[in-house]
Amino acid sequence: MRSVKEAWKAAVSAAVVDILAEKGADAGLAASVIPESPPDASMGDIGFPMFPFAKALRMGPPQIAAAVASRLSAGSTPAGTAKAVGPYLNVFLDRPSIAAASIAARTAGQSYGRSSSLSGSRIMVEFSSPNTNKPLHLGHLRNDALGESTSRILRANGAEVMKINLVNDRGVHICKSMLSYMVYGGGRTPEDEGKKSDHFVGDYYVKFNDLKKDDPQAEEKAQELLVKWEAGDADTIALWKKMNEWAVGGIRRTYERTGISFDKYYYESQIYMTGKEEVQKGLASGAFFKAEDGSVRIDLSPIGLEEKVLLRKDGTSIYMTQDIGLAIHRHVDWPFDRLVYVVANEQQYHFKVLFHILKSLGYEWAKNLYHLSYGLVNLPEGRMKTREGTVVDADALLDSLRELAMEEIQAKGREDAVENPMETAEKIALGAVHYYLAQATPSKDMIFNPKESLSFNGNTGPYIQYMGARISSLIRKRDKGEGKAGAGSIRPELLTADSEWELVRLVATYPEAVEQAGAEYNPAIIAAHLYATAAAFSKFYHDEPILTCDDPDLAATRLALSEAVLVVLKNGLELLCIPFLEAM
Ligand code: ARG
Repeated sequence: MRSVKEAWKAAVSAAVVDILAEKGADAGLAASVIPESPPDASMGDIGFPMFPFAKALRMGPPQIAAAVASRLSAGSTPAGTAKAVGPYLNVFLDRPSIAAASIAARTAGQSYGRSSSLSGSRIMVEFSSPNTNKPLHLGHLRNDALGESTSRILRANGAEVMKINLVNDRGVHICKSMLSYMVYGGGRTPEDEGKKSDHFVGDYYVKFNDLKKDDPQAEEKAQELLVKWEAGDADTIALWKKMNEWAVGGIRRTYERTGISFDKYYYESQIYMTGKEEVQKGLASGAFFKAEDGSVRIDLSPIGLEEKVLLRKDGTSIYMTQDIGLAIHRHVDWPFDRLVYVVANEQQYHFKVLFHILKSLGYEWAKNLYHLSYGLVNLPEGRMKTREGTVVDADALLDSLRELAMEEIQAKGREDAVENPMETAEKIALGAVHYYLAQATPSKDMIFNPKESLSFNGNTGPYIQYMGARISSLIRKRDKGEGKAGAGSIRPELLTADSEWELVRLVATYPEAVEQAGAEYNPAIIAAHLYATAAAFSKFYHDEPILTCDDPDLAATRLALSEAVLVVLKNGLELLCIPFLEAM
């Protein structure tokens, strides 16, 4: 579709240039030939407003539109016709040729919507970054959905993508879980208690609150444990290892459940020292300076901020120090062109400063660092909160969504129609949560409404899954010989109804949505396109007979269009980590 638009833009520009030249006006003005979408398909498929040329030509826009139209009709143009519609030059595309191209998507299959817009670039995407003292929560689900789908979208546009996870496995938080396990754990294991291992660790972190009541020195003891850990004390390290394995093992099971994966794991415990050397080098090169108190700092006035400490006066590092070392280390590991950090917007300052520091150190790639910043996600008041009432546990949320989906399957009496009701319920739950998270603008805070997310109607994952299942069922029926489609042949020129053209247009512009989503790191663009496509299919299905159509050619063509729509839904859902369902 884009190539058609581009060709029309070129043709209209050429006509405008000629008219400007005839009147002795500046031909450069033709740069203002900019395509728009007319509000209604009956007015045309592309509109070019003529207002920008009125002054130079001393003509009214409708007059200019008429002049451009007559010039175009005299010469050769791309397929389609141009007409003056008031102050606009509107183009009516040659629908049969676009319909034919859209229908061809059905045979392109998985490759439909892929582009080479990012071919040759190597992009590292960091996301999730859990702490090992507790299981994943709702905020991680948003982070993971955003990181995984952005990575898939970048890959669909030809980039080579490396998905990485930075596990925060050291620090006082994990020492707190360790300490309360030492006091209350009695050597028990997650298996002993039949608990998912990350929840087992998280429960000891919560129990640290009790420990503080039992032992006023608990906080200091946790700090001492961290010092022992840094000194390499064997018992401390052994317990730390064991608890980290439990935590990471459990967290990985949640990733598997949600379809999230990584190409590489980085562990803070292994890299937290690397930044120190880099800061020393920066001090030597003059990028940083030593303050009177002995700390190493950077002057951030070039970006309008205060000074920032990079190494404390006792030589210990801070969060920033570690990220400096880590970025450099990663570039050595896998020389990337771009590095994307999927991290909550509360760390905006951190990344702004980090990127500036890396540029100051002279790294060429530092100009291609990007903070994919996202907002908070909360539940509607008073729902599904954990005991502490603060975070919403990811596994518990998925379980309750699955339960609600199961109830829906039972209420609709669909247990026999779907192959495995429990599995289907799980896939619907995942579709509900991933879609709801994907459709929101990443940078904005949002409320996750579990009931709403599961609705089979409206802008939801299950609605799109349902439309996919419906088309799959139509195709199964055709393949079994139902209806007359089998006897007909595909003739794109038969697709003349408005609802058909809307579907043709959405199939044709899907690749543009994939490209735009990649350029903007924004899965919400795919979500919006899928919803529009599903809604348009629903209207088509309601308005026109498909399988039951009397004319075999029209039936065959409508089914072929439905198959093309199915390809778009399948490929788009895949990009959003939403399972496709053949039946539901
Ligand atoms: N684990 C950190 C947190 O919970 C986020 C890490 C973000 N990544 C980074 N390279 N700083 O806040």
